[in-house]
Amino acid sequence: PVPVLAIDGPSGSGKGTISRAVADALGWHLLDSGALYRAVGYAASMAGIDLSDSAAVTRCAETTKITFRDLKDGGETRVIVNGHDATDEIRTETCGAAASAIAAIPAVRTALFDKQRSFRKAPGLVADGRDMGTVVFTDATYKIFLTASADERARRRYKQLKEKGLAVTLSSLLREIEARDERDATRKVAPLRPAAGALIIDTTGIPVAEVIARVLTVVHT
Ligand code: CDP
Repeated sequence: PVPVLAIDGPSGSGKGTISRAVADALGWHLLDSGALYRAVGYAASMAGIDLSDSAAVTRCAETTKITFRDLKDGGETRVIVNGHDATDEIRTETCGAAASAIAAIPAVRTALFDKQRSFRKAPGLVADGRDMGTVVFTDATYKIFLTASADERARRRYKQLKEKGLAVTLSSLLREIEARDERDATRKVAPLRPAAGALIIDTTGIPVAEVIARVLTVVHT
């Protein structure tokens, strides 16, 4: 079977950066599952759907067209939602919160299940998310759980958003991250937790290059 490296962890654990770098190093495909949830949250908000209306949000998850477009110059992968380039919009904390809200609806997760599985293509897949090793790719070849202290994760997110010129404060980010962690960990469907047998890497204070090297060691064994 096509090998899958599942990388799960909370917001700001470095999953996005690490997954992208590892996929590039291995020449494997990348699934940014969070972008799918963000895209549905975005599409639902744009359509004026009440995010607590599970049936309407589920229909939205079933019908929203989401595609990833890699740029030739190696820039950030574009996320196209119903024909509109929503890459920047879906990265906001508002969209992150919307994603987290709709991700708690079981039927939304079911609607995205097959789409996520379809990313498993030769020569391999790096799957970045919250439930890659526990739900979507329980049969993953390798499972890793990345984490870091909430303070460090808020600082990383702050730096990222600042670089994009978005106005945020560190304290509000820390509050949002803690609220999102709480909701992701305590929800009934696919709560965030390490998969059985996952290698847990605490990235607090560890340089990105070193985390990438550690993850690659796992795949090369
Ligand atoms: O970038 P960050 O880690 O903050 O979030 P993300 O990976 O883009 O995911 C945004 C939200 O989508 C998370 O807070 C989760 O609630 C949800 N999500 C999920 O439930 N399952 C996934 N596989 C990926 C994301």
